[in-house]
Amino acid sequence: MGLSTGYRKIRTAVFISGTGSNFKSLIKFSKTNKSPISIDFVVSNNSKAKGLNYAKIYNIKKKVLNFKNKNLSEKKLLSVLKANNIEMICLAGFMKILSKNFIKKFKGKILNIHPSLLPKYKGLNTHQRVLNNKEKYSGCTVHFVNARLDSGKIILQKKVKISKKDTKSSLAKKVLVQEHKLYPKAILKVLNL
Ligand code: GRF
Repeated sequence: MGLSTGYRKIRTAVFISGTGSNFKSLIKFSKTNKSPISIDFVVSNNSKAKGLNYAKIYNIKKKVLNFKNKNLSEKKLLSVLKANNIEMICLAGFMKILSKNFIKKFKGKILNIHPSLLPKYKGLNTHQRVLNNKEKYSGCTVHFVNARLDSGKIILQKKVKISKKDTKSSLAKKVLVQEHKLYPKAILKVLNL
């Protein structure tokens, strides 16, 4: 990935839109000795995102941008990320699609987590679609972000068994437990640790 770890932790921003449980788990991971990253910044397109509370609790700088004008929002975003020396970006439940130009500026340094076994079930409403298709397994995937939705190179995946009793929300919960473990592992893998 071209990022050197050394003693210094890699300055990372997390982008969220909602609950932020992956954000929280990444913060927890960043505070462990084995973590090569520090979480220094959080970005949200939604000022009411519950996850923004963790910014307050853990004293992490934040920026809210509505993305109504994507061009302008991304311009502002690039400048604030630069000012904060951000080197890596972890998307975690971020509901906006970043432009080609933005992705180019952080080439190979933007990761995303998706609640399915990609390349299956890209996009939204994943768990319901998985259940509708009577799949036996679902899971989660951490992948690099490219210009196409949920289509970048896969870094790591974790399978989850679906039971007959599973509903959309029980499956989401089961997968989320694994997401919290998978994202830190994927970061270690990307950095060859
Ligand atoms: C997760 O399931 C993630 O895979 C998906 O959105 C959800 C975000 O959950 N992209 P949280 O905000 O991290 O709790």
